[in-house]
Amino acid sequence: MNTLLEDAQAAGASVGLTADRITLQGGKPLVGRIELKGAKNLVTKAMVASLLGETPSELRSVPEISDVRVVKGLLEVHGVKVSAVGDDTLLLDPANVESAHFEVIDAYAGSSRIPILFCGPLLHRLGEAFIPDLGGCRIGDRPIDFHLESLRRFGAVVDKQPQGIRLTAPNGLKGAKIELAYPSVGATEQVLLTAVRAEGTTELRGAAVEPEIMDLINILQKMGAIISVDTDRVIRIEGVERLEGFKHTALFDRNEAASWAAAALATNGDIFVGGARQSEMLTFLNVFRKVGGAFEIQDDGIRFYHPGGKLKPVIIETDVHPGFMTDWQQPLVVALTKAEGVSIVHETVYEQRFGFTDALVDMGAHIQLHRECLGGAQCRFGQRNFNHSAVIVGPTELHGADVVVPDLRGGFSHLIAALSAEGTSTVSNVGIIARGYENFIEKLRALGADFVLEA
Ligand code: EPZ
Repeated sequence: MNTLLEDAQAAGASVGLTADRITLQGGKPLVGRIELKGAKNLVTKAMVASLLGETPSELRSVPEISDVRVVKGLLEVHGVKVSAVGDDTLLLDPANVESAHFEVIDAYAGSSRIPILFCGPLLHRLGEAFIPDLGGCRIGDRPIDFHLESLRRFGAVVDKQPQGIRLTAPNGLKGAKIELAYPSVGATEQVLLTAVRAEGTTELRGAAVEPEIMDLINILQKMGAIISVDTDRVIRIEGVERLEGFKHTALFDRNEAASWAAAALATNGDIFVGGARQSEMLTFLNVFRKVGGAFEIQDDGIRFYHPGGKLKPVIIETDVHPGFMTDWQQPLVVALTKAEGVSIVHETVYEQRFGFTDALVDMGAHIQLHRECLGGAQCRFGQRNFNHSAVIVGPTELHGADVVVPDLRGGFSHLIAALSAEGTSTVSNVGIIARGYENFIEKLRALGADFVLEA
C-alpha cells in the first residue's frame, strides 16, 4: 500500500510512459489523424472548481496527462472522491472536504502550479489553506504576488511560514475591487474561484479572457454563479450562498492543436487534428497561413498541411488573448528554421521562454537571442536582462543531435525538430511532455514517425 507521499510522487511521474528517452529517425513527413481531448489549462482548473459545489460534478473529455493526475491526487488528499468513468470522464464528489498535511500537498506541488488555485475554495469550505513552493515549467520566475494580493483583498490572512504559505479567513471572504497589473490567467482564475462564494460583489479589472478562462466561467455559471464579462477586460461576480456540482465537456486543447499543426509544417506533413475549432485558433491560423501552411476547417476538426513551396519568414509578438499565445511559439519556431529569410519572435508573456532554442542550434538552426524588444512594442522585459527576443535565419537543414527536454512546450518542439532533421536524434527527459500531451507516443506512431523508446 503506497503512502500518500509515494502516491504524490507517482502522480507527478509521466503518465503511461515506460521510457524517458526516444531515439528518432528524422526526414519522414507526419501524416494521419489525431484526436484532441479537453484543454490541460482548463481541465485542471475545472477539477479545482468542483470543490466549490455542494453536490458532485461530472467533467468530460479529460485527457490522460500527468497534470490531471497531480490535481486528482491533490483533491483526494483533501477528501474529495474522484472516480474515472469510461476513458475520459471524471466524477468528483466534494462531500467530505478536509484539510491535508502540508508535506503531502508539498509532494504534489513540486510539479505543478495548480495548488495555488485551491486557496479560495478551501478558505470557503474549511476557513484555511496551505500553499507550498510551486512547480511548473521553468520559463521564468512564475511569481504569485497577484494571487496573494487578490486573496488579501477578499479578507484572507496570508502567513508566510518556512514550509510555505498558510492562509486563513477569520472574518470570511467578502467581495472586492481588484485590478491586475497584467492580465494573468492564473490570477484571474484565483479571483473567479474565490469571488463566486464571497459575500457581495467583486469587480476584477485587467482580467485575462483566454478561451480557457471563458470555459471556466461557463462551468461556474452552471454551478449557480453570477458572472459578467465586459469588453474592456472587466469581470464582475456577484457572490452566492450555494453552488451545485456541474456537468461539463471541456474545451479542446488549442495548445496541443497548434503543436501538431507546427509539426505538420516542419515535417512537410499533413495532420488532421480532430476536435480543433477555428474560433479559438483564429490568430494561430493567420500566422500559420502567413508562414506558408495550409489548413481546412471541418466540422469535426482542422486539417493542417504543408502545401509545398517555400516557407516564408514572419515577425511574431506573443501576447495575451486574442493575441498569439506564448504556448504556440516554441513548436512554430522549428518550422521557422526552414523559412526562407529572417523571422523574429518577441516573447512578451514570459521572460525566459527561449531556453529550448539551444537544442535547435545544436541541430544546425541559426537562432540568436536578444535582450531588446524586437519586432514590436516595448514590453515588461525590455530594459531588463532577459533574452526574450529570438531572430531565426533560414532556411537551414537540421541534423540529428542528442537533446534533453527543458519544459513542456519546448520539449514538444524538440520532438518536432528531431522528426524534421536529417539523421538520428535522441530526446531525453520526455516524461515532461506527458504532463500536457496525452498519448503523444501513440499519436507519433499513428502519424508514421520512425522512433524507438529506450528505458
Ligand atoms: C497559464 O500560466 C498557463 N498554465 C500557461 O501555460 C500559459 O502560458 C499562461 O497561462 C499564459 O497564457 C496553466 O494554465 C496551468 P500567467 P499562468 O499568470 O497562469 C506574471 C503551458 O505550457 N505573473 O498568465 O502561470 C507571470 O510571471 C503553460 O501549458 C506575475 O507577475 O500564467 C508571467 O510573466 C506554460 N504575478 C505573466 O504574468 C502573478 O502573481 C503571465 O502569467 C502571476 C503571474
